[in-house]
Amino acid sequence: MRKPIIAGNWKMFKTRDEALYFILKVSEKMPEKEKVDTIIFAQAPLLRCLITRQGEELRIGAQNLHYEDEGAYTGEVSGPLLNSYNVEYVLIGHSERRQYFHESDEDVNKKIKAAIRNDLLPIVCVGENLDERENNQMNDVLERQIKGAFKDIPAIEMKDIVIAYEPIWAIGTGKTATADQADQACGFIRSIIKDLYGPVVAEGIRIQYGGSVKPTNIDELISKENIDGALIGGASLDPDHFITLANAPLNLK
Ligand code: PGA
Repeated sequence: MRKPIIAGNWKMFKTRDEALYFILKVSEKMPEKEKVDTIIFAQAPLLRCLITRQGEELRIGAQNLHYEDEGAYTGEVSGPLLNSYNVEYVLIGHSERRQYFHESDEDVNKKIKAAIRNDLLPIVCVGENLDERENNQMNDVLERQIKGAFKDIPAIEMKDIVIAYEPIWAIGTGKTATADQADQACGFIRSIIKDLYGPVVAEGIRIQYGGSVKPTNIDELISKENIDGALIGGASLDPDHFITLANAPLNLK
């Protein structure tokens, strides 16, 4: 059994006061971490104040890190700094980073290595755009992204890595992939992991779906065989919605 993992990606939203209000409201209402992993990915300057108030069950993650541990990279955030703040998770390769900040599969690979080196648990995002889906290139794109992301990453490290399948056409658009489409893509990702690392790693690795997940559609999505949780943008900004989303796996039969 893979433990469900529900994560909110706040992107570039929330000031300090708004973030603190949210944390105070949700931290007591999170499911037990033995049953569900719950994470909020916040902007870097919020990490410290959120971590001191995260409570027993919720974890705070960073939305990005640089692939070097230090250096002349103005404006970037390093793995050792995140580690020194007790940040546990880091989001890598989100489609917005790939699109607006030109992150390549090679950058994603280097960032995963930086995360591992600094004891951070990566959630690695992959997904096709609408053109690629309509031209039947979805599987090729996912295979290229997965093989690029995990190049030279040994099997022993894979047990702590989470993959988020986020079709770009479903992010922030209100268009969710149907539960069957999402399950099929997550199953395909699992089959590539099986080819690369064998059945034990493939059965153990957790794969989330992301793209317009909300309280009304999460139950069906996470009931699917290959979907182990959700990465949620817009709906994670509202504390009541996040409480419902985080607790959704407890309703699974
Ligand atoms: P969304 O974003 O839930 O607002 O579609 C998902 C994401 O970008 O992780």
